[in-house]
Amino acid sequence: MYSALFLSLLSAIAVAAQKGDWTAAYDSATGALAQLTNDQKVGIVTGTGWMNGNCVGNTGDAPNIGFRSLCLQDGPLGVRTATGVTAFPAGIHAASTWDVELIRQRGLAMGEEFRALGVNVQLGPVAGAIGKIPAAGRNWEAFGPDPYFTGIAMQETIIGIQEAGVQACAKHYILNEQELNRGSMSSSVDDRAMHELYLWPFADSVKANVASIMCSYNRIDGVYACENDAVLNSLLKDELSFPGYVLTDWGAQHSNENSANAGLDMAMPGDGMGDGNYYWGPNLLNAVDSGSVPQERLDDMVKRILASWYYIGQDKDYPEVGFDNWQPGTGKDVQGDHATVARAIARDGIVLLKNVDNALPLNKPATLAIIGSDAFPNPDGPNACVDRGCNVGTLAMGWGSGTVEFPYLIAPHDAIKERADADGTVLTTSPNDETASATAAATAAETAIVFINADSGEEYITVEGNAGDRNDLNAWHNGNELVQAVAEVNAKTIVVIHSVGQILLESFIELENVVAVVWAGLPGQESGNGLVDILYGDTAPNGKLPYTIGKTAEDHGTAIVPGDDSYPEGLFIDYRHYDKNEIEPRFEFGFGLSYTTFDYTELTATYTDKSPGEGSPAPGGPTSLYDEVATVTATITNNGTVTGAEVAQLYIGLPESAPETPVRQLRGFQKVSLEAGASAPVSFSLRRKDLSYWDTEAQAWVTPTGEFKVYVGASSRDIRLTGTM
Ligand code: BGC
Repeated sequence: MYSALFLSLLSAIAVAAQKGDWTAAYDSATGALAQLTNDQKVGIVTGTGWMNGNCVGNTGDAPNIGFRSLCLQDGPLGVRTATGVTAFPAGIHAASTWDVELIRQRGLAMGEEFRALGVNVQLGPVAGAIGKIPAAGRNWEAFGPDPYFTGIAMQETIIGIQEAGVQACAKHYILNEQELNRGSMSSSVDDRAMHELYLWPFADSVKANVASIMCSYNRIDGVYACENDAVLNSLLKDELSFPGYVLTDWGAQHSNENSANAGLDMAMPGDGMGDGNYYWGPNLLNAVDSGSVPQERLDDMVKRILASWYYIGQDKDYPEVGFDNWQPGTGKDVQGDHATVARAIARDGIVLLKNVDNALPLNKPATLAIIGSDAFPNPDGPNACVDRGCNVGTLAMGWGSGTVEFPYLIAPHDAIKERADADGTVLTTSPNDETASATAAATAAETAIVFINADSGEEYITVEGNAGDRNDLNAWHNGNELVQAVAEVNAKTIVVIHSVGQILLESFIELENVVAVVWAGLPGQESGNGLVDILYGDTAPNGKLPYTIGKTAEDHGTAIVPGDDSYPEGLFIDYRHYDKNEIEPRFEFGFGLSYTTFDYTELTATYTDKSPGEGSPAPGGPTSLYDEVATVTATITNNGTVTGAEVAQLYIGLPESAPETPVRQLRGFQKVSLEAGASAPVSFSLRRKDLSYWDTEAQAWVTPTGEFKVYVGASSRDIRLTGTM
């Protein structure tokens, strides 16, 4: 008797605890669905239309089941358009920390702000464009061109966002690798590269229980992503067992029945960006009535949307929407103490590329020149241009829908000046990009810091002739000439670079007078503070490049494609391409210096799994793919003189029995902070999929037999320990 009571209590708890439980969330969704009319269902899956609601996307509501209109809002680095929010470092800058803790905290802090403003769905994080083309406009919104790394960064960000009670949206799915012709071009990739490279981070996103996925603008094999049965139904919903819902990118829907039957679940913004034409809405109702879209398909769309809403726990006590996307300046202060994590990432994402004879850190220099517009605030304020669509003053994020309004932006000059004043350092400045004034300032100082940058963004804004994608990989505003001019007159020239992605450094990197180069990325509101922490050695630099910097644009092997893109490079992008073709990069993937040095010892590599590993279907694909099957360990010692953090990286080479595979692929990384003289163990655990390739004939992941090569090192080329398994 007691046990029956106990059981019924348990099941009551189970219903209440549907948060975080897909089965319970689906049970609730099925119950709620039964109370909805087809009209209501169509309202939930169809956006209310462009600018029709407080958010960038809004759905219909269903008060009888307690479902209010969902608020969907950009973007991947914070709450777009609202005031009172944190301008976090961009995805690519979070990536260059290689710090999973910070990446998780960033996700959580963003989620807290979206929730406080009543946003149900945060339109981020981004795994596509993954960044196969260095010049592509939106790479900075994502985490860089390594699929393993991006998968981990997606997972941590999604867990953080959803822990705050907000639905994450992994985007843009899939093969949306450039801005040029994004709405019309077709991408085709071989099945292996699809699985091992482009789908991989989305699989990790699904495994992390992401609530929603945004299909992209482009076509895949000629068929629009948002009506593509192969990528939506087959890959995402069947192969990866994605339990959430697919929503369109804004205006990326092109059909009624086709999109519905191919697996689309929500149309955004509903109409064609304000044209009042809805593919769904009443048309979907007619299609269901006529049988061209099965009733079960409509029910499935709604169930997916409701289940995600229950799964995240938004059916209870969700805050009201606290801003109006269409009225700039609305919102409220939701920043809490998030400046702290923003600063930590701004700081730890900085990568030291060159440092001759301990030119850095600065030690109370008597005189110091600060040169270049990128060191100074935009005189009209950091938000002077809509969606950050200009490159004036210091650069801290790219442009487009993936931006926010800065609450403030600490420019490098302002933060350095504070320190200089305290140190009694005399500053000379040149706040523009003119070589004449630069040389004047540089001549007057013992050390000169010259700031250059490169910007990019989304195609609906053109900045200085760049229509989203960059026209070339050079620094903007004659940055190369500026550095050269300064280096000509100053023997201690330090270059600081703010950039959306790779730039060409060749015109100055080897100049003798260029004694240090600091890659300061896209640091967000805490830019200057994070930089000062590094320049003055309060923290030793500990970031690593999340991509390869080549010597020429051609060396990268990929470029913006004018028509359709057939992805001829297959698996071989970024360091995989450099390794395969034995091209010497300027700075390889994973590279970054410190003010201290590290020693690597004691490699062990153990394959522990004996089971064949069938596994059952679960979000992310068969569970067996995620079984831990091997462990690699090593010991890292700080053998320098100051405290510092090292990112130890594990690369794996597959046995010869596998088809042609990259020489080495990142399959683990761990950041350890160590005092001078201290040692710590690092341990990398490998999942079955980390040791597998996609067998296109078997349509399955296969773990090849034979000897795996194990490399542990400080970058993709600075391998310190080699073994086999
Ligand atoms: C972008 C998406 C964004 C959406 C809503 C589109 O142009 O590609 O990333 O979420 O607009 O603003």
